[in-house]
Amino acid sequence: MPTPALLVDADALEHNLATMAAALPGRRLRPHVKAHKCSALARRQAALGHTGFTCATTREVAGLARAGLGEDLLLANEVLDPGRLDALARLVEAGTARVTVAVDSDATVDAAAAAGIAEVVVDVNVGLPRCGCDPGDAGRLADRARSAGLHVRGVMGYEGQVTIIADPAERAAAVEAAMDQLQKAHADTGGDVMSAGATVSYDINTWATEIQAGSYALMDTTFAPMAPAFREALTVLATVISVSPGWSVCDAGLKSLGMDHGNPVIDGASVFIVSDEHVTFIPDPDRPVRVGDRVRVRPAHVDPTVAYHEQMHVVDGDGTVVATWPVDLRGW
Ligand SMILES: Cc1ncc(COP(=O)(O)O)c(C=O)c1O
Repeated sequence: MPTPALLVDADALEHNLATMAAALPGRRLRPHVKAHKCSALARRQAALGHTGFTCATTREVAGLARAGLGEDLLLANEVLDPGRLDALARLVEAGTARVTVAVDSDATVDAAAAAGIAEVVVDVNVGLPRCGCDPGDAGRLADRARSAGLHVRGVMGYEGQVTIIADPAERAAAVEAAMDQLQKAHADTGGDVMSAGATVSYDINTWATEIQAGSYALMDTTFAPMAPAFREALTVLATVISVSPGWSVCDAGLKSLGMDHGNPVIDGASVFIVSDEHVTFIPDPDRPVRVGDRVRVRPAHVDPTVAYHEQMHVVDGDGTVVATWPVDLRGW
């Protein structure tokens, strides 16, 4: 297999999918596809009962619709581009998908209405300095949306600020505080949906009507300690291309590994430097490597790692490839 290559451990993936399906069956989970960008993997999630999906890009929405997975797609992100919004509206008109779009301002409400979008949720800022309106403005935005002819399904509020809180009790308190704000906003907007949550809060967030977890399927070194029910299923296979007296080098690098959460891990070695096409690592003295050896690099962040690759290879315990899935939801 040419390297660097994305490998998915079949057993770990199935364990993760089954564990989540048991914890949050059916529509209690709205898997976020941004974490894997793969309609074949989304099909596995749908087969286990999760038939609604969360998306971050219009490409993800359109790709899922094309794959026949358009039953209930939430674009949990603000979009202003008339061409992209129009394409979403046409998916709905064609009966290919049910599409709900997040709005958090007058401008995004007006853009959705102008493009003929049918359904929206009001995105509420519950503590993460990113998108979302002030909780006190959610009711007004919902009224504006309804006056413009949009159906308001409810609210969403991603409590992403809790993903850096390692202590479970502190994290639980932060989730509760965030959901308190979202509940108040929801009381002002009406609608059935209160969408929130993540892999590190899937078992804590009992307030949301649906949880938007995504990383749980593949996992990474950052979230694994915070969500121990799930196993790391994703690695980047690399080839050792050079060995020097103090270090060794493999052919993965910044362009095949999401690095925003820190260095990747190589078992039996310590990672020293990651550059564009190289990981320089120091093997443990009892585990030397030779040129041509294969190493598995464990990424710190699954989402951007997957987005660098065109396909993922599902491998069994012996390392035999049992399926190759295109990462077909990449791009914008
Ligand atoms: C809107 C939204 N919801 C939910 C999530 C949770 O995803 P994960 O389970 O991968 O942490 C994210 C991740 O960034 C997100 O952007």
